[in-house]
This record gives sequence, C-alpha cells and structure tokens, in this order.
Amino acid sequence: MSAYIVGGGRPLEGSVEVHGAKNSVLPILAACLLAPEECVVHSCPDLSDVTASLDILRHLGCRAERQGDTVVVDASGPTGCDVPDALMREMRSSVIFLGAVLGRMGEAKLCTPGGCELGPRPIDLHLAAIRAMGGSIEERGGGLHCTGPLHGADVVLSIPSVGATENIMLAAVAAKGTTTITNAAREPEIVDLQTFLRQLGADVRGAGSSVIVVRGGKRLHGGEHRVMGDRIVAATYLAAAASAGGQVEVTGVDYRHLSTVTSVLSEAGCVVKSGPDRVYLRSAPLRGVRPVRTAPYPGFPTDAQAPLMAALAKSGGCTVFVENMFESRYRHVDELARMGADIHVEGRVAVVYGVPALHGAQVQATDLRGGAALVVAALGAEGESRITGLHHIDRGYQDLVGDLTLMGADIRRE
Ligand code: UD1
Repeated sequence: MSAYIVGGGRPLEGSVEVHGAKNSVLPILAACLLAPEECVVHSCPDLSDVTASLDILRHLGCRAERQGDTVVVDASGPTGCDVPDALMREMRSSVIFLGAVLGRMGEAKLCTPGGCELGPRPIDLHLAAIRAMGGSIEERGGGLHCTGPLHGADVVLSIPSVGATENIMLAAVAAKGTTTITNAAREPEIVDLQTFLRQLGADVRGAGSSVIVVRGGKRLHGGEHRVMGDRIVAATYLAAAASAGGQVEVTGVDYRHLSTVTSVLSEAGCVVKSGPDRVYLRSAPLRGVRPVRTAPYPGFPTDAQAPLMAALAKSGGCTVFVENMFESRYRHVDELARMGADIHVEGRVAVVYGVPALHGAQVQATDLRGGAALVVAALGAEGESRITGLHHIDRGYQDLVGDLTLMGADIRRE
C-alpha cells in the first residue's frame, strides 16, 4: 500500500505553477465528442479521471492521444453510444458524457453513477432537463438508456448544479433550437466550457451568470483550447503554506477564482497579495475566523473546505464551518483528530477549536479533498505523519509530492 511520509514543521518557500483544472477538463473532453474534427486541448492534467475520460472517448470510437500535457481528440467517426460500467464507476463525473453522447449519437447508454464518498449524488436534474428537451429515458437495473432527438427548451434548475449545467450545455449545443438554462451554476469551469464550445463554433452565451442561452444545431468544427488553472489545487497549496508557515507564490491561476479562499486566509492573519495569474501568501500564526459557509460560486467552494479546515485546526481561537453542498463531507475530521485537532461535528456544522500544535500520526485519506487536507495538516504538524489512501488524492493532484518538494516540504511517496 503506498503512503506519503511527511516530516512536519518545515516552512514552505518558493513558487509553484498549478496544473489545468480537473473539473474543467472533464466536460471539455466530453465536448470534443460534439465536433467531427480534431480538437487540441492544452494544459490537460495527467489524472486518473482524465485517463478514464480518454478511455471513454476511445471506447466510443474516437482517437484520443496525449502528448505531454496536450491531448488531441479526433471525433470524426464515433461509432458507439454506450459507456461501459467499469469506466462509469471509475469516474463518478462520467455522467458528464450523457449530454454529449446523446447529442452526437442520438442515443446514450450508461449506468447511473450512484453514491460516492461525499454521500448520495443524485442526477435527477440532469435527467429532468434531458426529458424537457424531448429525450426519452428508460431507467432499468441501475442502467440508463436515453434516446433523442433533442430540441431546445427552457430549463429551470432548482439547484445551480455544476454537472447538470454542463450536461445541458453539451446536449443543447447538439439540439436544434434555443435552450435557456435558468439558475445555471456560475463556476469558472462553466465559463471555460463555454469558451471551448465557442471555439468549436457553438453559439453559447451567458456562462458566469445565472442564465445561459444556447442556440443549438450548428455544425461544429475542430478547435484548440488551454484549460484554466485549477483553483482548488491553488487553494490547497495556499492552505499548506498557511499551515506549515513560510511564504509561497502560486501561479497559473486567476486570483479572482480564489477570492473567498484568500479572504479567509487574510482574516486568519496571513498576508495575501494577488496578481492576475498568481497569488502570494506569507504565513503568520493563524487565528480563528468568522463562519465559513460553503456555497455555489462565487461563494466559498466546498472543495476547499477540508484543506482550509486542516490549516485552521492549528490556530488561536475557534472557527465554525457550515457545509451546505454535500451531506457527508467531514470524513477528514476523525483523521485530523488523530493528529491532535479538536473539531466537533454536528450535521452540517463543524466547530474547529484551534490548538497550539498538531502532531504527526498515521492517517488515511477517505476522499480527494479530505486526503489533501491531511497533507496540509501533516506539513504543519510536529513529527512524522504517514498518509494512506493515496488513490483518492491522485484523482485531483498530478504531482503533489513534486510541487510541495519544490517549495521545500519534507514529503515522499513510499
Ligand atoms: C462539481 C465538482 C465538485 C464540486 C461540486 C460543487 C466536477 C467534476 N465536480 O460536482 O468537485 O464539489 O461541483 O461545487 O465538476 N444535485 C442534485 N441533483 C442533481 C445534481 C446535483 O440534487 O441532479 C445536488 C448534489 O447532490 C449536491 C448539489 O446539487 O448536493 C451540488 O452538486 P453539483 O453542483 O451537481 O456537483 P457536481 O457537478 O457533481
């Protein structure tokens, strides 16, 4: 079983560039299916979910090749419309292929993603939208069989779901007529998807606001795109520096995507300075901050909750976290407690009573960002930690050890 061995208490120094955003590249790779020509996607991180997406594209009959951090997808002749169960299970977010496969092939067969480490992950909003667009969906034995043709429709989301917004955008680009998505998610990754779709010749407007309008049915062509920097990886590295001490610069990320995270870190006592594509942080002894409530963008990102909590576990004072996005997103708390953290959870609320010091321990990652939080805590703890469950962390960080080592951390993979 592989493990990270982290020697805590060494301040971080230096500059690191973040890789392309996982949550951006996945819908962008699905979007490649809509264009019957070659698409070139730069800054494509080498992560297990990306590998699974490329396998899905190949299974569907596309050519998909990686050259360094560039991926080339040629969807001139897809032949399949089914996503195998094994690939579906490998990547929960593979449901993002539904809209694109259905749009391109007129039919899609896949299994329902089921729950995950964060609790139940329903896709009712995705399916209701496909139905509103004229798709018919048979749900049988955990499988979905969707058939078109689709047409434009007015879709109103009861929750601004990121995945549902992306799936509807992809389906709508292929559907004849106009689709309006009201209460759309406003995440930067949605804007990145819109930019890519427009590169391919699609008529999509409004991403970044709550109303997105797609005039669908246009023939698309190939295109080239650079994926935006991963704001959650950036948030993790800033939290790591706040925990371990020192000063770091994180580059390749739009500072505006991190404003709620950096404002918490400033309130906690860190000095934060931002440029258009970078954020600098100088650490200081941390203090508790006002309640941190996760919310859809531009609110505080649920994916940054665990890494920030890990940093604030060692602080003077108390911080309340309220997790509003997912039911079961405090599984890192028991592991942080092994390192000496004093955190009380009740339902969606976690109260962090800052302690003066954490100590190294043997801990296990239970999900992607919860796992990253253990690394953040271990870097600021006294003594050595051993972190297992690395397959979770590998889903979202291309080279955590390399990046942290570059900043002077004592971390190795065993
Ligand atoms: C995406 C991100 C994930 C992030 C999350 C919230 C990707 C690949 N993943 O996940 O990292 O944590 O956004 O920012 O981009 N919901 C329903 N019905 C649906 C769809 C969603 O009830 O049909 C609920 C979910 O259970 C959840 C909330 O809506 O409570 C938000 O989920 P959603 O925005 O869809 O998250 P994902 O797209 O799955």
